[in-house]
Amino acid sequence: MLALVPMASSVKLLFLCFLSLFISFSIAQPSFRPKALVLPVTKDVSASVPQYVTQIKQRTPLVPVKLTVDLGGGYFWVNCEKGYVSSTSKPARCGSAQCSLFGLYGCNVEDKICSRSLSNTVTGVSTFGEIHADVVAINATDGNNPVRVVSVPKFLFICGANVVQNGLASGVTGMAGLGRTKVSLPSQFSSAFSFLRKFAICLSSSTMTNGVMFFGDGPYNFGYLNSDLSKVLTFTPLITNPVSTAPSYFQGEPSVEYFIGVKSIRVSDKNVPLNTTLLSIDRNGIGGTKISTVNPYTVLETTIYKAVSEAFVKAVGAPTVAPVAPFGTCFATKDIQSTRMGPAVPDINLVLQNEVVWSIIGANSMVYTNDVICLGFVDAGSDPSTAQVGFVVGYSQPITSITIGAHQLENNMLQFDLATSRLGFRSLFLEHANCANFNFTSSA
Ligand SMILES: *[C@@H]1O[C@H](CO)[C@@H](O)[C@H](O)[C@H]1NC(C)=O
Ligand SMILES: *[C@@H]1O[C@H](CO)[C@@H](O)[C@H](O)[C@H]1NC(C)=O
Ligand SMILES: *[C@@H]1O[C@H](CO)[C@@H](O)[C@H](O)[C@H]1NC(C)=O
Repeated sequence: MLALVPMASSVKLLFLCFLSLFISFSIAQPSFRPKALVLPVTKDVSASVPQYVTQIKQRTPLVPVKLTVDLGGGYFWVNCEKGYVSSTSKPARCGSAQCSLFGLYGCNVEDKICSRSLSNTVTGVSTFGEIHADVVAINATDGNNPVRVVSVPKFLFICGANVVQNGLASGVTGMAGLGRTKVSLPSQFSSAFSFLRKFAICLSSSTMTNGVMFFGDGPYNFGYLNSDLSKVLTFTPLITNPVSTAPSYFQGEPSVEYFIGVKSIRVSDKNVPLNTTLLSIDRNGIGGTKISTVNPYTVLETTIYKAVSEAFVKAVGAPTVAPVAPFGTCFATKDIQSTRMGPAVPDINLVLQNEVVWSIIGANSMVYTNDVICLGFVDAGSDPSTAQVGFVVGYSQPITSITIGAHQLENNMLQFDLATSRLGFRSLFLEHANCANFNFTSSA
């Protein structure tokens, strides 16, 4: 029609305006799709043991929600019993695709809402809770700064109660599970925005500055650093444990935690004599090495602890002093020099597959406490309360030989690639940087 009728210039102009409006709409329409998301992670010492806390925005209207980060946790759960107000929260109906993403689940016969067990992996308390979906808002990043807020309208979580919230850091009302499930934070974010199934975490050693967590691929650029930290990682395969070692899982489910293959341990380049059977995972799920953000310190099976501690004391060459719990091996502060890499002690090297080495330097191996300086590892045999969570939900969980705890992870960039099942790691001390160097000032 337009071709047949000669247009007056004003009509033409109007048409052009429409055309350009249409074009700009169709460019703006496919909503912004982020390649990666970013969250701050704060070390919080308000509870009995340090916790690493993040904050997302959820609900309608949006409110900030503080969550303890649980690397091996399967779920995002939040207390719905107290203070949950939202006009967009919707329960998931039994038989729906939303419920099946949780694997095995329970169904309430009356209202047909599905439910799943959830646990506070800090205290070991578990309950059952309804599965709900609600809006979550989070910052997208270009790798340098937060760039703009994006939201996921139906982000799945389990409704917890006051009893499971107890023991979390001040103001924290739930936990952010990053484990190997279809409903952990990394899985839900990567499927919502179709980005790579990778996430990274960098825990700050200070309670005053924010560490950082990324969902999606790099670049992970830290302010003044000119290097992209995703390009300097060393990789090792992630291993699956066929049996869950966590509380409150249905018996027989595989573990959703992250295990790596430690083959031997070296102190000062000398092999520590160990019973290597303990280093692999047997068919009952016993043994092996996992990584945890809820264990504040690395926990070692008792014979491994004794062997590592003995080799370490010998390599340090200083006398030990009366230990301070939960540690068993301490020195006088005056006997250990301080350096840029932390206390001047020999590295503890975890030798992984293909001779790849994870070096634990002084800043990560040692803890200053009450005028003494201690090897920041805990003997699972001597102090079961800080060791393997000892509660039982119908069956006993297999015991892991080595649990690498948060103190040993601080100021290391860890990237979990779920598609290729590998862990990338790098100590930021080698980059003359730390996990608090990400620039959280929005560049939008
Ligand atoms: C996004 O980042 C900015 C700057 O750090 C922050 O003020 C804001 O609260 C963040 N928004 C969300 C939804 O987390
Ligand atoms: C090594 O550990 C395994 C598993 O706990 C145990 O069965 C075996 O007896 C141990 N071997 C030695 C020599 O202590
Ligand atoms: C942080 O990012 C903001 C926004 O891009 C920028 O203005 C500021 O200079 C950066 N700060 C540092 C310390 O690099």
